[in-house]
Amino acid sequence: MRLLTGIQSTGVPHLGNILGAIRPMIERSRPAGVEAFAFIADLHSLTALRDAHTRLHNTRAVAAAWLACGFDTSRHVFYRQSRVPQVCELMWYLACLAPYPMLANAHSFKDKSARLAEVNAGLFTYPVLMAADILLFDAEKVPVGKDQIQHLEITRDLAHTFNRLYEPLFVVPAAEVDAQVKVIPGTDGQKMSKSYNNTINIFLEEKALRKSVMSIITDSTPLELPKNPDTCTVFKLFALVAPEEETQELRSRYLAGGFGYGQAKNLLFEKLLDTFREERRRFSELMAHPEELDRALAQGEEKARQLADDKLRRIRECLGF
Ligand code: ADP
Ligand code: TRP
Repeated sequence: MRLLTGIQSTGVPHLGNILGAIRPMIERSRPAGVEAFAFIADLHSLTALRDAHTRLHNTRAVAAAWLACGFDTSRHVFYRQSRVPQVCELMWYLACLAPYPMLANAHSFKDKSARLAEVNAGLFTYPVLMAADILLFDAEKVPVGKDQIQHLEITRDLAHTFNRLYEPLFVVPAAEVDAQVKVIPGTDGQKMSKSYNNTINIFLEEKALRKSVMSIITDSTPLELPKNPDTCTVFKLFALVAPEEETQELRSRYLAGGFGYGQAKNLLFEKLLDTFREERRRFSELMAHPEELDRALAQGEEKARQLADDKLRRIRECLGF
């Protein structure tokens, strides 16, 4: 079974990315017989991010997050998309098979098309590059969030079209949306997302991490009164990382009253430090030694390029190049 997923390097991974994407993919990659491809979609990030230094920093941070969370690069394939430029060649072939309306109707483009002057062509062809990422490596399952389902439909569509017109070279992949993975709330209670400026970055140094936990918005129930854990973001985040027993204990404290949000935030802060102690240590070590990151990536990139070359040779033949 071949799994493949990518994360854009438009930001430093936050708790939502880690609990919603990185950890679930790592869990899925553990069983014997699974071959996992995890990559940093740095080419995709160019549709939204122009600054080179920020991109380089984010690319390293995404790579460091995967490694710090335990992605096994000795067994699986780990790479930067930009180091496998073969995806760009395949993208062109697929772009020539993609009907204009299919891309014009993609949510990711449509959402932004109200301000067309700000839209670049890369954003329009974004799903085609994503299809190339997936089809180049014969991925069977693609773990993604719900917002990416339409991109997978486009990928499947392009695979079917190629297979019908030429030869059945492409595996038709399936999106894998994990129903168990919850939407992680951000500091303002909405979905945690870099676009909402409400993220918690668990790799921050302690003082800054404490500050971001303290910034979680809570209601104004007075300290002495009972509080509703189920509507409280601090409680929800605690429940996502703490063992069941500790969560129940915290629930009772909320319900009993005489327990303030400041105390709850302190408990959450300590829990985050405790839960991600090893990941935090490893992350700073890797960020301080980018050469170690580069080494881990170079190995995967070599393998990915080889596989990509083999596949492209067959694709070019089919197309008469
Ligand atoms: P952002 O919303 O911060 O821009 P991305 O869209 O780059 O994040 O998401 C990268 C991956 O992380 C996707 O697989 C997405 O489903 C997952 N993810 C992002 N935010 C959350 C969240 N709040 N809860 C669960 N998963 C999330
Ligand atoms: N578009 C995806 C996102 O924003 C990232 C991505 C790029 C991707 N290429 C991919 C995900 C291929 C899965 C497979 O989350």
